[in-house]
Amino acid sequence: IQAEKAGYKHFMLKEINEQPRAIRDTTLGRVSLDTGKVFLEAMQLTDDDLRNASQITIAACGTSWHAGLAGKFMIERLARLPVEVDYASEYRYRDPIADPRAIGLLITQSGETADTLAAQAELIAKGSKTLAICNVVGAAITRKAQGTLTTNAGPEIGVASTKAFTAQLTALFVLALHLAQVRGTISDEESLHLVTELSKLPGKLASLLNINSPDAPGSSEGVAAPTRLSQNAGHNKNVSFRPEAQSDLSGLTQNVSSRPERSGVEGPPHFATDRRSTTRQPLSAQCEELARLFHTSDDFLFLGRGIHYPIALEGALKLKEISYIHAEGYPAGEMKHGPNALIDESLPVVCIATKDPNDPSSVLKYEKTLSNIQEVTARSGRVIAIAIEGDTEISQLVEQTIYIPQAPELLLPILEVVPLQLLAYHIAVRRGCDVDQPRNLAKSVTVE
Ligand code: G6P
Repeated sequence: IQAEKAGYKHFMLKEINEQPRAIRDTTLGRVSLDTGKVFLEAMQLTDDDLRNASQITIAACGTSWHAGLAGKFMIERLARLPVEVDYASEYRYRDPIADPRAIGLLITQSGETADTLAAQAELIAKGSKTLAICNVVGAAITRKAQGTLTTNAGPEIGVASTKAFTAQLTALFVLALHLAQVRGTISDEESLHLVTELSKLPGKLASLLNINSPDAPGSSEGVAAPTRLSQNAGHNKNVSFRPEAQSDLSGLTQNVSSRPERSGVEGPPHFATDRRSTTRQPLSAQCEELARLFHTSDDFLFLGRGIHYPIALEGALKLKEISYIHAEGYPAGEMKHGPNALIDESLPVVCIATKDPNDPSSVLKYEKTLSNIQEVTARSGRVIAIAIEGDTEISQLVEQTIYIPQAPELLLPILEVVPLQLLAYHIAVRRGCDVDQPRNLAKSVTVE
């Protein structure tokens, strides 16, 4: 087992560090960097089915449900198609409205979760066609689906999902782009821009994690080999990352140490504790320092707005699952309707306050979130902000800032969840918890 951990202390840490490759392998073979077009593997759904769809119903559990919530923002924004997101465990208990023009989308790492299989059965019984986003080739969910988008994250052993989640977000983004292209709701120029940005993500993630980019020449350290390649990879000659894209990726790793964090290897001993510092410090070391400061807290709040709210939920879930600290994810704007009463000088509040400066709705959301942060700090809450590198405004306001690289709004979640995973990881380690196999939880829940 130690060998399978490739020198990491825990599978979870290994899997967090495998995310650059998981994202790359989930994208590879599905997009063209020349045209921006998306190519999905064989589906029994025709372009007409997608064009005429009345809505998409997403059903999933746990972390996969959080991916679904973020997917709703992607699909509605790009493809202008209504999306509803259900807990799979609730879906069939409310006599749901589904019809033959609705498409059911089941998101599941394992493909074997009993509640998600039951939701699929309900959708099929109501006459809907179903698609699956799944990490395991040939899993039960894929056998009844009209199409499967495989997340090529490789086997995930840690009970708390990490790389499967970011791979699901990637698959949802690719699906949203595909739907938008088929339905004619996106221009060729915008498609090409978004696909180009998507191709930069593995390099940005590697930079954030201080490991070599999976696309850097001769790079293999710190990122395990994928166990499965994209089913499409290599089949479609038009579809590949071009050498220019690869240089994009390596260009983003300039300040990156070539060594992953391994057992017995300490991170650099400096952190972004200076409020005026606006550049990124080594992330794992910074999260370790935050863990030292906050691991005795009894409660945590995680806040986000828009597509960042599901990531706040995921940050809270990670912490609950592996450190046993009570944590809640909340939409930032809802604080005034209740949770503000919880704030005192002992409450850590993790605020996702990222923005895409090229996207006016993202900037507006950011400004509102800044006001929410001020409401927390005015009540002596201790704010840890996740912000975009170079943001001078936020670091003046809060106690701690974790910086992530810039990306378009819909892709930011893939970057901003990484510090939340590492924060939960380091807090759990400090508290002496069994990170890979938390008490009372199972990797795959095959009972309803
Ligand atoms: C369990 C796991 C979670 C996972 C959930 C859904 O509760 O511990 O990490 O998110 O099941 O699993 P699935 O395989 O359907 O994504």
